[in-house]
Amino acid sequence: MFRPHIIAIDGPAGSGKTTLAYRLARKLGYFYLDTGEMYRAVTWAALHNQVDVADEKAVTDLANQVDIDVRSPSVIDGRVNDVWVDGQDVTREIRRPEIEASVSVVAAYPGVRQAMTLKQRQIGQRKRVVMAGRDIGTVIFPDAELKIYLDASVEERAMRRFKENQAQGETLSYEEILAAMRRRDAIDSTRKVAPLLPAEDAVRINSDGLTSEEVFHRVLALFDR
Ligand code: DC
Repeated sequence: MFRPHIIAIDGPAGSGKTTLAYRLARKLGYFYLDTGEMYRAVTWAALHNQVDVADEKAVTDLANQVDIDVRSPSVIDGRVNDVWVDGQDVTREIRRPEIEASVSVVAAYPGVRQAMTLKQRQIGQRKRVVMAGRDIGTVIFPDAELKIYLDASVEERAMRRFKENQAQGETLSYEEILAAMRRRDAIDSTRKVAPLLPAEDAVRINSDGLTSEEVFHRVLALFDR
């Protein structure tokens, strides 16, 4: 069986990459890291410390100082990881709409990306990992032996996020989520540093109309070599 050290999974919000990455990690016994959680954690720290997210220098300084720890779940509530920031469990808070609204701005700052890149590479050097994000196959681990780029239409991705939110009692409408997702896609794909892009050597999968089970099995077939 093919056993790459790093499995890079990139794609836009709602493409199903985190579900896929988590299932693969469980199946293969790899560490699972959702790098979006790290950018969310920096955003949470900025809002919590009343740092203006438009202040690039202040947010970058914060990204270099903040202690972000992603580890195995301590609570059985559907979470796949614990995310701690400066000793506080923020796993739930980083999914809130106010974080969603600011995270793309924070993730576009080159200094913030540099700080997170360092942390992500350190994790990947220490252990076998399935890493999900936007730039794992292009920037963080361009030599990864397996890269997957998972995509889906913005309408389908917004519908998935809407259903997830409803299950958690959030009240945002489908139209609001769709508009926010379009905004976020535009920022993520047009930023100067590490824009959302498939790596040339990535296996590309469009998950429109596919269940997460079908995507998972399609990817598992890549290991039979
Ligand atoms: O995957 P997500 O929705 O949790 O990501 C949150 C934000 O972080 C999103 O705007 C894109 C950004 N991000 C990034 O720029 N690079 C990554 N490797 C992961 C996420």
